[in-house]
Amino acid sequence: MVQYTDELKEEIRSANDIVDVISQYVTLKRSGRNFFGLCPFHREKSPSFSVSPDRQYFHCFGCHKGGDVFTFISEIERISFRESLEFLAEKARIELPVAENTEFNKNQYLKDRMHKINATTTIFYHERLYKPLAKIAQDYVKQRKLDNNTLKAFKIGYSGEYNELYKHLKNSGFKDEEILATGLVNKTDKGEFIDRFRKRLMFPIMDVSGRVVAFGGRKLENNDKMAKYINSNENLVYSKKRHLFALNLAKQSDSKKIILVEGYMDAISLYQRGFNNVVASLGTALTEEQGRLLRKYSEQVILSYDSDGAGQEAILRGLTILENQGCDARVLQMEGAKDPDEYVIKYGSGRFKLLVENAVSLVEFKIKMLKSKYNLEIANDKIKFLKEITKILSNVDNKIEREIYIDKVSEKYNISKEAIYAEVNKVSYNNVNETVLTKSVKREPKEVVISPSVIKRENMIIYLLINHFQDAYEQIVTNITLEDFKLEENRTIFKKILESPAEDSEKILQMISNIENQDIQSHVSEILVTDYEISSVEKCIEDVVNIYTKERLCNRKLEIIKALESTSSLSKDEIANLEQELSEIIIELAKKK
Ligand code: UTP
Ligand code: MN
Repeated sequence: MVQYTDELKEEIRSANDIVDVISQYVTLKRSGRNFFGLCPFHREKSPSFSVSPDRQYFHCFGCHKGGDVFTFISEIERISFRESLEFLAEKARIELPVAENTEFNKNQYLKDRMHKINATTTIFYHERLYKPLAKIAQDYVKQRKLDNNTLKAFKIGYSGEYNELYKHLKNSGFKDEEILATGLVNKTDKGEFIDRFRKRLMFPIMDVSGRVVAFGGRKLENNDKMAKYINSNENLVYSKKRHLFALNLAKQSDSKKIILVEGYMDAISLYQRGFNNVVASLGTALTEEQGRLLRKYSEQVILSYDSDGAGQEAILRGLTILENQGCDARVLQMEGAKDPDEYVIKYGSGRFKLLVENAVSLVEFKIKMLKSKYNLEIANDKIKFLKEITKILSNVDNKIEREIYIDKVSEKYNISKEAIYAEVNKVSYNNVNETVLTKSVKREPKEVVISPSVIKRENMIIYLLINHFQDAYEQIVTNITLEDFKLEENRTIFKKILESPAEDSEKILQMISNIENQDIQSHVSEILVTDYEISSVEKCIEDVVNIYTKERLCNRKLEIIKALESTSSLSKDEIANLEQELSEIIIELAKKK
């Protein structure tokens, strides 16, 4: 294995801004110097996850995970530290030193060839759509009312017969194993190469950057035995759960909303009619990875699933995934057409736009689903309904939001507001009691209790050493000793700083981020993302140094006083010296006050 040098590591680190990288997984909002968001490592409803752009560190005050960009990637992608380095190098297109044929390098090369094959294939299919032999596909496209701009935007194509693609790829210089790796061509038991997609209308699936990673093909014949769509299998460059069809186009939209549909044709049809913020999940259940992508590129996601489709449960699952990730998710409710494509063709884009605007929230959707289970004319049902909706409403953390829903529900279902409030308060009260109980059970006694103010002070010293090395170093090391540090993590870090010949903040930070210990990294990240609100660095250093010197003087004062209490064991000179020292200390302390 090639050993990556520290310089290379730094190059990769500086090419991957931590805010950019984390934003691909977490929605971050700026507040003061730092960015905040919902922690991706534990479930939470209010953000305790913080990222410092200045220090390039993250920290969660809830679960205490923290570290630099490499730590983040290895945690979130569940890969080793080394792999996180390779991952980020690839992202920044930094070439890593080549060892003789490492698995990693072979994979990189193959991936690159597969991307080239996908690009070549896209052009091959697309150009073929315009040839006379593609009449069946051209007629179909007309019947589906797709115009030429749309065909170009989505690079829609028409696949060949038998092994036409295979021959074309071979002529373009690709090797059999590279072609087979894409799944675009299969090898039969007899050793023949046959195209996977034949005589189908082809939809390239692109990643966010617009690179084609897979294909879907729709049948054109009216043959019930044929699958309506076939899609690329997963492979080295395509993972179904990580992609959304048309996201490369939707991310360019000015709209802060993204409309999520099920099918290729829904996305394409809406796009052609002016909705350039549509993506398709391609008929599979929404995954967490897709949820993160959506959150990254939008502020609100509107689920617009088929009206007959996978049904309410699928919508509920999708909504819940999105909400858990801090997305504002809504459901579009559609009547009179089976899917968005049919709807816009039938009723026009104006009507569809209204549906988008009237999309309802998860809470409203849940209540509506509940309503269908009960007959509110019956008193008993109405009571059960009230009990169920209060469960839903008491989960709404935001008070104002909750009030709005209560108003809506009260009006819509003719239930008095007071009755709803009474129920909601009951449930909320129980929730509070439960959390208090679990917390007190979990609390474990600690051997040594270090007061929070001491910890905060120590943390600030480390913070000063990292951020204001030039001003702080001399003062701190001459006045504060290793033994002064009470928290073990701080002591380890301070020891490192004392031992290293580091001469500036950058080097100190580098040295600290190289300490391979999760507890230390978590602790450092907390220090780095904390805003100590220091107005004058000089004053701050002086104050903190003062605290320790004062403490030292006080201790020494007590020591001397104690020694002077039993003078029998001391010589005259010793006593005189001690008294001299004591008076100096007293003067010194008086000056410091
Ligand atoms: P739909 O049947 O709703 O497809 O399936 P659609 O996009 O509306 O297509 P048209 O209007 O009938 O032409 C939704 C999605 O499920 C996947 C496809 O991604 C499709 O777009 N699917 C469906 C398959 O992968 N295979 C199938 O056989 C059917
Ligand atoms: Mn359809």
